[in-house]
Amino acid sequence: MYVCICKKVTDGQIRQAVAEQRVRNLRTLRRELGGCDQCGKCAPDAKQIIRDSLDESMGFATCSPASL
Ligand code: FES
Repeated sequence: MYVCICKKVTDGQIRQAVAEQRVRNLRTLRRELGGCDQCGKCAPDAKQIIRDSLDESMGFATCSPASL
């Protein structure tokens, strides 16, 4: 699914880049994938995907209230 429509960056690309330790925040996402540098509407979603991917890579499960 496209997260950044302006630069055609998908959630899969972001997750892959985090797994490869190329992306750790929006600044490195912009540098590595070129996304989130035009309208900025994708920034909140991109940030959340980065955060979730970092948690998963560190072994932390993301809990939602429904899973408690
Ligand atoms: S949707 Fe990502 S910069 Fe516009």
